[in-house]
Amino acid sequence: MYKDKFSEDVGSFFRSPVREIFKRVDLNSIYSFAGGYPSAETFPLEEIRAAMSEVISGYGGKAFQYGATQGVPELREAVAERCGVPVERVQITSSSQQGIDVCTRVLVDPGDVILTSNPSYLGALQSFRSYRADIRGIAHSDDIDVFRRRYEDMIDAVKAEGKRIKFLYMIPDFQNPSGESLTLEERKMLVELAARHDFLIVEDSPYRELRYEGEHVPTMYSLDPGRVIHLGSFSKIFAPGFRLGWALADPEILDKIYVCKQSLDLCPPVFDQYVAAEFLRSGRLDANLRKSIALYKGKRDLLLALLEKHMPEGVTWTHPEGGLFLFLTLPEGFDAVKFYDKALDAGVAYVAGEFFHPDGSGKNTMRMNFSFMSPERITEGVRLLAGLLRSEIE
Ligand SMILES: Cc1ncc(COP(=O)(O)O)c(C=O)c1O
Repeated sequence: MYKDKFSEDVGSFFRSPVREIFKRVDLNSIYSFAGGYPSAETFPLEEIRAAMSEVISGYGGKAFQYGATQGVPELREAVAERCGVPVERVQITSSSQQGIDVCTRVLVDPGDVILTSNPSYLGALQSFRSYRADIRGIAHSDDIDVFRRRYEDMIDAVKAEGKRIKFLYMIPDFQNPSGESLTLEERKMLVELAARHDFLIVEDSPYRELRYEGEHVPTMYSLDPGRVIHLGSFSKIFAPGFRLGWALADPEILDKIYVCKQSLDLCPPVFDQYVAAEFLRSGRLDANLRKSIALYKGKRDLLLALLEKHMPEGVTWTHPEGGLFLFLTLPEGFDAVKFYDKALDAGVAYVAGEFFHPDGSGKNTMRMNFSFMSPERITEGVRLLAGLLRSEIE
């Protein structure tokens, strides 16, 4: 009855298979490696209560009033200081998912090309499709020359089709879903390609501060602040329920995002912003982050050790230096979507890697999250999954 009422964009919407999984089962009743949820243990409830009370005492009704579209000055300034950029380059977002969506909305016309990694973040692919973008996924290679060539070949092919590349979407730090990061050399190479072929880069980096080993690598934004829009988020370093993040970009780009956000949500959540600003200013955020890093490092190490011990031959996985995920590759011919029902019936969940591949490849891959479950449940869950895989592929 409503079919002819919806916009053409609606035809390009697609449901997140991850959220469909959540609807089917109670995640607490199974061993779930599926979601990307932080551990609720990392939410400092008592300190949040204290900060909320301080905000109410300090700001009164202002904390519940509409606020500036760019974000409240206290939080913009705190983020500017943390990121080492002028405050004019900071827009507070209602988290990085909105950052992705708003960038796409201000930059992309239907049919425009967005380059991204293959695999890439599902929520971004959903947003790109909803604006009818033409998404081209490019697989990583550890050989920088092969990696560069793959990009150059894709850029040439897009140009030959007479299409425009609007931006490259990248998650350079502990990617969702693969857990892998780009080296400095790879970041420089991509930034140079963007300059040579005149497209922008949207650098989405919600996991950047969750590093468990190795040295920090400069952001792509720091390599070319005129060409890169950097998206950050409080979801993984504080709490996702606050729905707060930030975009760093050239003021000319931010101005378009600012006007666009006027029609989206008028302003980011005001009370939440004051609480986040208070957390940053008082050092409570960093103290809590150190605890989260220690917790997640332990869980990552545990998962890696369990995979080593229990997985059958022919299964390989990534070794993330941070973030919340690692990526499993199963033998050629294995279908992780088909296998999923069997796993779920046995009480263990993951996300099939195919969903993250814009080119439809990756059938024999799966994403595993290690932040959400307790160490005991991670241990039981890996034993169960490995046993099921063993009987399937051996
Ligand atoms: C790469 C990436 N970007 C963005 C998001 C969205 O996060 P939020 O909107 O909570 O900041 C996620 C969430 O999992 C993600 O993995």
